[in-house]
Amino acid sequence: MQFTIQATDPESKARTGVLSTDHGLIETPIFMPVGTAGTVKAVHQRELVEDVRAEIILGNTYHLYLRPGLDVIGKAGGLHRFNGWKRPILTDSGGYQVYSLSNTRKIKEDGVTFKSHIDGSKHIFTPEGVMDIQRTIGADIIMAFDECTPYPCEYGYARASMDMTHRWLTRCIERFDSTPAKYGYEQTLFPIVQGSTYKDLRQQSAEFVAEQRREGNAIGGLAVGEPAEEMYKTIELVNAILPSDKPRYLMGVGTPENILEAIALGVDMFDCVMPTRNARHGIVFTTQGIINIKNERWKDDFSPIDEELGGYASTFYSKAYLRHLMRSEEILGAQIASLQNLTFYLWLVKQARKEIVAGNFAKWKGIMTKKLMQRL
Ligand code: GUN
Repeated sequence: MQFTIQATDPESKARTGVLSTDHGLIETPIFMPVGTAGTVKAVHQRELVEDVRAEIILGNTYHLYLRPGLDVIGKAGGLHRFNGWKRPILTDSGGYQVYSLSNTRKIKEDGVTFKSHIDGSKHIFTPEGVMDIQRTIGADIIMAFDECTPYPCEYGYARASMDMTHRWLTRCIERFDSTPAKYGYEQTLFPIVQGSTYKDLRQQSAEFVAEQRREGNAIGGLAVGEPAEEMYKTIELVNAILPSDKPRYLMGVGTPENILEAIALGVDMFDCVMPTRNARHGIVFTTQGIINIKNERWKDDFSPIDEELGGYASTFYSKAYLRHLMRSEEILGAQIASLQNLTFYLWLVKQARKEIVAGNFAKWKGIMTKKLMQRL
């Protein structure tokens, strides 16, 4: 997997680049729609390609392992064959979902035992097992098994957890490097920096991760309730240590504003459930600001959802119609809103790339952020 930086912003740490995978090129900075259970909720593959213009999507080890299970995905020939997505896929390791979703979980040195949120059945995730699972799912980018600490987190816990995440990383790497790619195309492993909001821990963790010299690196444990300023400070500190010639992936972030700030700090890859989850609750992201489409205000507003954005959902359907669908809990409402929000997120990162290349990123970011903080 090759990463080539193409342009850098003179006023910030922002950069554009191209990440090359066997399933195609990814232009960075990029937003990756979340496809937890092998589907980006309410959005067809064709829409993802033609309207959203997604370049890479996410899958989740935790969900796919529990349902449909590895026997089905293995028999299909991997997730790409199973769901028809022909471009790159990144899978999260379960190092987040197992903590937030499973019923009872016990974290030990060997791994995490947990009960399925679906049927209560008991399972164990170990660093080795999670590497094998992601190989079988067939992700192009596989994430290390980690513990994402909550916020706030007591120093002693954060340090012990980070140390264990590092030992798990060593085990992930040993297993990953001693097993072949499953389906003939290249798979690569990204380690994850942890350390809560403690400067010394984040520094240690970033150094440990950087020493592994992998093809890309991730920052985890953020956007878990800490103030945005804390998050930005942590990203800045970590990015100064992670190699600048490799892609940096900020996990689970965030609002459009968070994304622009993090791009300015040198982050290249993002994922978040926000555009799709918010869509299902009637929160619609547009180039003019954020809309609660269920509000009375849109009752008879027959203007397109977002004329400036262009694209199918944004221009074909009106605000009043989408409001009606959402209030009636029609399935199409979730589909249109999800399509709009993802199209907006992919537009935002594309625009950021253009502005970085044009040398105008800082100025554009200021204007855009003001617009995006508006609740219409
Ligand atoms: N998604 C959001 N944050 C995290 C994290 O810290 N670890 C993992 N594995 N996934 C995440």
